[in-house]
Amino acid sequence: MTSENHASKIDSNRVLIFDTTLRDGEQSPGATMSHDEKLEIAGLLDEMGVDIIEAGFPIASEGDFNAVSEIAKNAVNSTICGLARANLKDIDRCWEAVKHAKSPRIHTFIGTSPQHRAIPNLTMDEMADRIHETVTHARNLCDNVQWSPMDATRTEWDFLARTVEIAIRAGATTINIPDTVGYTAPEESADLIRRLIAEVPGADEIIFATHCHNDLGMATANSLAAVAGGARQIECTINGLGERAGNTALEEVVMAMKTRHDILPYTTKIDSTKIMHLSRRVATVSGFNVQPNKAIVGKNAFAHESGIHQDGMLKSADTFEIMRPEDVGLVETNIVMGKHSGRAALRSKLKDLGFDLADNQLNDLFVRFKALADRKKEVFDDDLIALVTDAGSDGEGHLEVNFLRVVCGTEAPQTAELSLRVGEEDKQASAQGDGPVDAAFNAVKAVFPNEAALQLYQVSAVTEGMDAQATVTVRIEEDGRIATGQSADTDTVVASVKAYVNALNRLIVRREKSGGDVPEVSYKDIG
Ligand code: KIV
Ligand code: ZN
Repeated sequence: MTSENHASKIDSNRVLIFDTTLRDGEQSPGATMSHDEKLEIAGLLDEMGVDIIEAGFPIASEGDFNAVSEIAKNAVNSTICGLARANLKDIDRCWEAVKHAKSPRIHTFIGTSPQHRAIPNLTMDEMADRIHETVTHARNLCDNVQWSPMDATRTEWDFLARTVEIAIRAGATTINIPDTVGYTAPEESADLIRRLIAEVPGADEIIFATHCHNDLGMATANSLAAVAGGARQIECTINGLGERAGNTALEEVVMAMKTRHDILPYTTKIDSTKIMHLSRRVATVSGFNVQPNKAIVGKNAFAHESGIHQDGMLKSADTFEIMRPEDVGLVETNIVMGKHSGRAALRSKLKDLGFDLADNQLNDLFVRFKALADRKKEVFDDDLIALVTDAGSDGEGHLEVNFLRVVCGTEAPQTAELSLRVGEEDKQASAQGDGPVDAAFNAVKAVFPNEAALQLYQVSAVTEGMDAQATVTVRIEEDGRIATGQSADTDTVVASVKAYVNALNRLIVRREKSGGDVPEVSYKDIG
């Protein structure tokens, strides 16, 4: 038995952080990450001190299986967990992927509420038998098994208690209580865990986890209340990424316990100074931007715009700040980068921002930085982050923009001329459209015909000022496959086309990986 899966073996106020950005977060429509991106995020989570990383759902696709296996091989400190539905095939596949980890975990679940029981059409007795069989099977493979009654907060008490007892008897070492549809409220969340621990035989021998969704905006409060009720594992995602209103945000529960340690006397192993970098990387690779007023990681979370606030801040930072920006890794340095800044200054600045680049990557970035500095007087931290992000998504795909010229103005229609590398070939086209972006996208379609529908087109300024870069996010959909692309440039149309081309490159990879029309398995296909 590994150290973190037995209730009596952990310090009574220590809360385990179970990050599911790569499973529940990635399931959010459009948030699909590439193999390399998943590996990068898992590495950062491991480094930050996450106790358990739920790396994916191995039966879902070859891609998910490979990502979970590789994350398991690379993990240094974290336990690596995979998700499996309540059947032997899922559990075997999950074990094949996680078994490479120094500390592997199988997480198996079944929907226990009346709403979820109707899907596999099992009676309560049949479901009880299924839980016994699947948890026993998982435990025969792995000594670290987590079991979840999905939609626990809408499950009848007697049946919930009965299933939890069966799972514990069958060898589950962690019982996770999911609030799958974000239905509970803090007091109820605390009471449910408290009652399970008090009334279910064997409950004091295992760890209880809380897994909350944010449909009513209460995920953080519900998770912390569950901890007050006795849960010692919080399941969460970076930026609260997840379907619908998302999951509990890791940064919120961690910083709440740190900042209000007087009334929330719990500890985690998280190095909070790594939060900001992870938040930015997850936003970029998932294509889900963080709202400016998001707690802890939003652009405005530490900005003090109003006169009264600024005056207070100048006198004493704690007038309006309950946390220090540096505690979450927001580093303000005095070095402003410009066209005279050298390679060493760029390297050191990037290091402060959490990017440790190899020499060849730095050389490539330096050229891009100089080009940007020629167009912009001052290059801010966010410009550099956008530049690193852009460098990571360019030039790796099937398509690459060589040249773009757009004529726009008050006289319609607008026209675009484009040269695009398609595989090994350079192809040209010109097209018209209703506005410069439409014309440029039509030129891409003329060179690379596709039926992908545009689901999202979003522009945001990277920094303040007239010469600010624009970050463009594009999400497209083709036959149920969704792909997101992002790019930044001082020219919004250039950023738009590059973001569109990045999204197409990802779609091409997804087409190849899923082998044409084969649908991927969803964890909601109960089987
Ligand atoms: O929300 C949920 O119920 C889940 C389960 C699979 C644990 O994500
Ligand atoms: Zn969930």
